[in-house]
Amino acid sequence: MKDIFIYDDGKTVSRITVGGSLQDIRDAVTSMAATASGLHVVCDRNVKRYAEPLLAGMGPHLSEPVFIEASERNKTMSTVMDICGKLTEQGADRASVILAIGGGITTDMAGFAASIYRRGVKFAFVPTTLLAQVDAAIGGKTGVNMDAYKNMLGVIRQPVRTFICTDFLKSLPYRDFMSGASEMVKTFLIEDNGFYDRALSYLSGLGISDDRTAYMEEHMEELTALIAAAAAVKAGIVSRDQFESGERRKLNLGHTFAHAIEKNARSAGADITHGEAVAMGMIMAAGLSERLGYAEAGYAMTLKNGFKAAGLRTDCPFGIEELVSAMEKDKKSEGRSIHFVLVAGPGKVRTETMTAAAAAELLKGFIL
Ligand SMILES: NC(=O)c1ccc[n+]([C@@H]2O[C@H](COP(=O)([O-])OP(=O)(O)OC[C@H]3O[C@@H](n4cnc5c(N)ncnc54)[C@H](O)[C@@H]3O)[C@@H](O)[C@H]2O)c1
Repeated sequence: MKDIFIYDDGKTVSRITVGGSLQDIRDAVTSMAATASGLHVVCDRNVKRYAEPLLAGMGPHLSEPVFIEASERNKTMSTVMDICGKLTEQGADRASVILAIGGGITTDMAGFAASIYRRGVKFAFVPTTLLAQVDAAIGGKTGVNMDAYKNMLGVIRQPVRTFICTDFLKSLPYRDFMSGASEMVKTFLIEDNGFYDRALSYLSGLGISDDRTAYMEEHMEELTALIAAAAAVKAGIVSRDQFESGERRKLNLGHTFAHAIEKNARSAGADITHGEAVAMGMIMAAGLSERLGYAEAGYAMTLKNGFKAAGLRTDCPFGIEELVSAMEKDKKSEGRSIHFVLVAGPGKVRTETMTAAAAAELLKGFIL
């Protein structure tokens, strides 16, 4: 097991434990509950099978788990209000701990509910998707969607603990796994340490394997090492810039394009996951980097070919001109300017501020 910490001004604000078993998490949650006035669980109903053994026999501190439907449609203020309503019914107080079990939708909503309930109570996460293990459950961003705008309402507040168990990933559908893999690859493009190539190589092997569950079991040590490395990169960046005034913006690599792709996909009824949109967005960011002379000519295509071989989705159904309006409305835009993250290779990223229209103009006619 490996512990990774997030610091604020030299003080530990969050502890992330990677590689524990279900029993290890159970032990840690039990001792956390023992020092709280109550343990209140918010769980994705699709992962009940993990919650039951995790929580069995936890004693009088444990309230009846609140099961939620994890969907973007349901990731709303209204669901957060329902969670807060249950917490009130269960008598949760300032000394209670909220435990979220599920993917990024569950951790985002439960973390947000815990952050506003009685002006904020402690919370912890058991992320069960790859995306949540490398990204959503680390760094303290929590929130919900508002109308068609993703994560428009939210706060930054750290979970006291995050427990990462890679065994959960064996039941994750391949498409959901690859959605998280895209964020993991993004993290290694931002800070490499040799993990970018290792991640692509692991994913290529998984993609072509006849029995992906067996492949995952055989290569569990490598997957755990990749997740721990990605979590450490993100924790480091968050420790240096928790409230995203500078370095943390790099974690948005590909995301301005991705949010616009997701918004267009919703309007067009197209089925594109967040991670798929991020992979497409990173290729667009590489194209923009080429056009600005930051990346070498041909880099976007190199990136795309590498992603394709790893099984990531790379073909965007929308042209750049179709994305401009949604990019302008992205919550990350400040006035009319957007902090685009450029990429020139693993470990080579920087931000560039420009309007969505200027970025689109540069990318016009660019074959990606
Ligand atoms: N807070 C952040 O910093 C941050 C970062 C990135 C993404 N996000 C958010 O995360 C969300 C996406 O997260 P996600 O991809 O984890 O989605 P998710 O929570 O919807 O999970 C994806 C699907 O997998 C199911 N599932 C979860 N764990 C499973 C398991 N172990 N086995 C089988 N099925 C399982 C879920 O029920 C769901 O159907 C988005 O809303 C995004 O905005 C937040």
